[in-house]
Amino acid sequence: MGRALGLCALALLSLQNTLSGEVLIFCDDPTVDKAVTSAINKFNEGMHTGHKLALFQVMSASKVQNGSYWLKFTTRRSSCSASDATPWTDCEYLPIDKKPIKCNATVHMNETDTDTEHVDLHFAQCLGCPEEIDQNSEDLKVPLSVSISKYNSQSDHTHLFTLNDVGPATRQVVAGFRFKFKFDMRRTKCAKEEHKDLQEHCTADPDNELANCNSTVDMAPWRQELPNVQLECGSGAMPPMILRRRPPGWSPLRNILIQFPTASPKAPPPSDAPPKTKEAKISGKEESSEEDLAKPSASPEDSLFHCPSKPWKPFHPLRTGQNSMVAFDFGKM
Ligand SMILES: *[C@@H]1O[C@H](CO)[C@@H](O)[C@H](O)[C@H]1NC(C)=O
Ligand SMILES: *[C@@H]1O[C@H](CO)[C@@H](O)[C@H](O)[C@H]1NC(C)=O
Ligand SMILES: *[C@@H]1O[C@H](CO)[C@@H](O)[C@H](O)[C@H]1NC(C)=O
Ligand SMILES: *[C@@H]1O[C@H](CO)[C@@H](O)[C@H](O)[C@H]1NC(C)=O
Repeated sequence: MGRALGLCALALLSLQNTLSGEVLIFCDDPTVDKAVTSAINKFNEGMHTGHKLALFQVMSASKVQNGSYWLKFTTRRSSCSASDATPWTDCEYLPIDKKPIKCNATVHMNETDTDTEHVDLHFAQCLGCPEEIDQNSEDLKVPLSVSISKYNSQSDHTHLFTLNDVGPATRQVVAGFRFKFKFDMRRTKCAKEEHKDLQEHCTADPDNELANCNSTVDMAPWRQELPNVQLECGSGAMPPMILRRRPPGWSPLRNILIQFPTASPKAPPPSDAPPKTKEAKISGKEESSEEDLAKPSASPEDSLFHCPSKPWKPFHPLRTGQNSMVAFDFGKM
């Protein structure tokens, strides 16, 4: 009965769309795939900074009678930079950006040619620009730790320094992440002669001397590379006009790093993802990130046309602190 109604609705829908010269087509149709690929290629060709986009899901597709496709789809930033020759189809998603980027495009297709007339994207902000991040952010812990470690290994102080305050911080996506921030540190009672690294008991008296730094840390947690740290440091506290904050629960370096591999509550680790079920596959919603699953359920029209399509690839958000930092030998940086 429901099915008959559905088919009837579909028939009406098709009739209506035919009148306007527009026909809905299956989101997983091979010609739609071809059209979307062309649109994303076109967009990526025009990009000179930041990261290439890769398809996430086709949201809806329709065909105008003259052979033009009108497409709505979502994309995600990929790990391939804009200048990289690798096609987006060979790239992985950047493990950030919880929400995919909404796009739409008009593509003309005939037997011989595929030609993207326009492609339109909606991002919350400029893709390659530095964005402010909270001074308490979990994401800053590794950059801070490696910065302090580098300071301690290079300064000519007799004692180790530990974190005091953190100033404003930004993160930029450039062939990886670039963190920029200011911080200051206080001298601890641990002499370098006896301690290679900061330990929990390396505490600092409130009247001990301070040192402050500007730090730039480049890292790509999805690649197994050591973070690159550039420091500019001087003695004394951070300039007084800077808004600063002491991250709560900050404890010396090693401990932070060892405690790190705990999943952040919002982003469950990929290994915890529920196994794919047959049912999920049929509804075409498997593996969308949690936010996407929270969307209102598809309209009958959408499900009839297999929309939205199955994600092109599963998206696994980055687990904060999920990397091999624990094993890094800071002495070598
Ligand atoms: C097809 O029709 C649409 C609108 O109906 C128009 O925007 C588009 O330019 C047309 N394409 C061609 C190739 O004529
Ligand atoms: C699709 O494109 C139109 C302009 O052609 C724009 O007004 C609209 O906001 C876009 N929608 C999405 C979801 O990108
Ligand atoms: C296919 O479309 C292109 C432009 O989009 C046009 O130049 C070409 O003549 C078309 N070919 C056929 C066979 O219609
Ligand atoms: C940090 O950078 C600012 C400019 O943003 C500069 O004025 C300051 O001297 C730098 N601090 C150190 C310790 O080099």
